[in-house]
Amino acid sequence: MDKARSHRLTLAVWFAVAALSLATALQAQTPPPPPIMLGTAWYPEQWPESRWDADLTLMQQAGIHMVRVGEFAWSRMEPREGNYDLDWLDRAVAIGAKHGIYTVIGTPTAAPPAWLTQKYPETLRIDEAGHRVEHGNRQQFNFANPKYRELARKIAEQMAKRFGHNPYVLGWQIDNEYQDISFDPDTKMQFQQWLKVRYGTLDNLNARWTTAYWSETIFDWSQIPIQTQYGNPGLLLAWKRFVSDTWRSYQKNQLDVIRANSDPKQFITTNTMGWYDGFDHYVVEKDLDLASWDDYVGQGHLDPARNGFAHDLTRGFKGKNFWVMETQPGSVNWAPVNNSLDKGEVRAMAWHAVGHGADVVSYWQWRSALNGQEEYHGTLVGADGTPVPFYAEAQQIGQEFAKAGPALAGTSVKSEVAILHSYDSRWAIDWQRHNTNYDPAVELVSYYGPLRAVSQSIDIVEPVAPLSQYKLVVAPGLNVLSDAAAKNLIEYVRHGGHLVLGQRSAMKDEDNGLRPQRQPGPLADLLGGRVEQYYALVDPVAIEGKFGPGQSKLWAELLSANDKDTEVLETYGKSNGWLDGKPAAITRRVGKGRITYIGAWLDGSVMTAAAKWMGEVSGVKPALGKVPDGVEVYPRYGDQGVVYILVNFSKVEQTVALPSAMNDVLQGGSKQSVKLPVYGVAVLSK
Ligand code: GLA
Repeated sequence: MDKARSHRLTLAVWFAVAALSLATALQAQTPPPPPIMLGTAWYPEQWPESRWDADLTLMQQAGIHMVRVGEFAWSRMEPREGNYDLDWLDRAVAIGAKHGIYTVIGTPTAAPPAWLTQKYPETLRIDEAGHRVEHGNRQQFNFANPKYRELARKIAEQMAKRFGHNPYVLGWQIDNEYQDISFDPDTKMQFQQWLKVRYGTLDNLNARWTTAYWSETIFDWSQIPIQTQYGNPGLLLAWKRFVSDTWRSYQKNQLDVIRANSDPKQFITTNTMGWYDGFDHYVVEKDLDLASWDDYVGQGHLDPARNGFAHDLTRGFKGKNFWVMETQPGSVNWAPVNNSLDKGEVRAMAWHAVGHGADVVSYWQWRSALNGQEEYHGTLVGADGTPVPFYAEAQQIGQEFAKAGPALAGTSVKSEVAILHSYDSRWAIDWQRHNTNYDPAVELVSYYGPLRAVSQSIDIVEPVAPLSQYKLVVAPGLNVLSDAAAKNLIEYVRHGGHLVLGQRSAMKDEDNGLRPQRQPGPLADLLGGRVEQYYALVDPVAIEGKFGPGQSKLWAELLSANDKDTEVLETYGKSNGWLDGKPAAITRRVGKGRITYIGAWLDGSVMTAAAKWMGEVSGVKPALGKVPDGVEVYPRYGDQGVVYILVNFSKVEQTVALPSAMNDVLQGGSKQSVKLPVYGVAVLSK
C-alpha cells in the first residue's frame, strides 16, 4: 500500500470512529420521544430552507413531535446516478430536533426519478393491459425488476449510512403503500420459477390444480399464465402468494442494508392500507419491527366498526402497538366527494386509534405543495403558510396526548376474544362470490361490531396464530383452511376454547380447491354436524331460535346435527323448501371447549343476541361494564393498571356510569361517571 493511500485510510477510520462517538454522545443526551405522539408528513424538499423554521415552530406549537420525511424525494436525494445529496435532509432532521421533533425517514422508492426510468426502462412496470407506465405519477416502478432493486438498495444504503445512528431519527419507513405490480415477461418468468420451487413437479401442480378440467393441463412451466380475476382457483391463489413473496423480497432488499447500517433502536416499518388485500400482509410484515398504516375515511364519516377492525388487524401483524402513519386532517382529495369530517370528529378518530393500540397518530399532510396532484388535500396550514381551522383541533389533540402520555406509557391492548382473518379466504370468496353482493369484508365486520360491544376489545389474528390466550375465537368466512390451521383450531377447542365458525367456513384447501368433505371439512367431526348444502339468496330467509327471530340475507347454509351432543340454536323458516325448518346454527360442547357453526347471515338484532350468547357461554365480559350504545370503550393495560379510553360516536350526549371511581386523565379529578358530548372523549385511569 502506498503512503498516501494508507494515510487516507487512517483518516477514514478516524472519521468513522469520531462520527460514531459523536452519535453515541448525542444519543446519551437525546431525551426519549413522548410515549403517545402527534405527527405529520412534511416535505422539506418542496420548500425553501428559509421557510423550514417557521413550519417547525408551528408544528411545535401544535404539540407535534414527529415528522415523516423523504418518501418521495428521490430526485432531490440523487439528482444524477450515483450522485447523492443528503445534506439537506441532515439539516431538516437537525432543525426538527431543535424544535423537539423526531424524524421518521421514508426510503423514496415509490417515486423513482426520471433519469432512472429513462436510462433503465425495464424498471418501469407493465400494467395488466400490457402498457408500460410512464414517469409523472408515482408507483411506476417494477417491483420484481433486479435493476430497480439494485438502485433502490443503493439509495437506501446511502441513507442508512447517513442517518442510521442519528438519535433524532426514530426509524424507517420502506417505500410507501405497496400496491402496483408488474405484468412484464420477466415477472411472469419469475412466477413460473416460483411455482417450480413450490410445487416441485408439474404432475404435482396439475394434480393440485385439477387441470384435467377444461384441458388446463400444463406440460411445461413456461405455459403457465398470469391470471388475477378469472382463472383456475389454484392459479389465482398462487399468483397472490407470489405477489406477497415478491413484495417481501422487494422490502427485504432495502431492509437488509438499513439494518446493517443502523442502530437497532431505530425501527423499520412500511405503511400499509388497512383493509387493502393486494398481498398477504402476514407474509410481508414478518421482517418488520413495527406495523403502521394509513387510516383514511374518504367520503362520509368514520365507521368505528369498520375502521376499528382495520386498527386491530394492523395491531395483529406484530401482536403489539402500532402507528397510524398517515390520517386525514379533515378531508382527502381522492374520494368522489371530499367532505370534511365534522369538527371534533378527527379528535374522536385520533383517540379511537390510540384506544385500539396506536402510539402515534400522524396527519397527512402538513402543507400542500403549491403544485402537484394533491393540491386540494386536507392540511394543517394553508397555501399561505398559516394555520387552517383544523390546526386548533390538532393542537388540542397534541395537548391531550401530552397530558395522557404518562398514564398510557407502556400500556397495550389485551383481548379475550379473537377474530380470525385470512387473506386466502377473502380472495377465494371474492373470486367466486356466488352472490355478487357477498362481500367477505362486510361479513367480518358483521361479527366484529356486536362482538366488540360484548368484549370491548378484540384481537384480529391469522388462523395459525397461537390461540390459547383467548376464551372465544370467531372465524367468519374462513373459506380456505390449511391443514396447519385446522390442527390449530382443533387443538384450541380440545384445550377448552370456544370456536365459532361463520358462513362458508372450511370449504377449500391450501390450493383453493374443494376439500373432499362437506364443510367444515376437518372440523366436522368435532362439530358433530355439517353443511348439507349452501344456497345463494335473492330474498332473505326467516330464521328463529335462541337468538330470536330475524332473517338470513344473501346466503343460507342448511346444516345437519348428527351427534347426540350437537344442539340446534337457530332454524330456518319457510323458504325454498330445502331450507324450511332445517338447522341454521348448531353448537357442540367438546370437554371444556365448544364449537359452533353459524350457517345464516345474521341480521342486526339476531347478531347482537348471538354475540351476547357467545360472550356468555365463553365467560367473556365487557372490560369496563355496560355503556350506552354508540359509546366505545378501549382498555389499555400496563404495569400501573388499566387506562380506559371512551369515545362517544352516538348522535347525542351520553352519560357513562363507572363501576368504581376513576381518575379523569384529561379533565382532572376523580369521577364516578362521565358525561360525553357527541364525539366526546374521556381517558380514565384506575
Ligand atoms: C396515501 C399516500 C400519501 C397521500 C395520501 C393522500 O396514503 O401515502 O402520499 O397521497 O394517500 O390521502
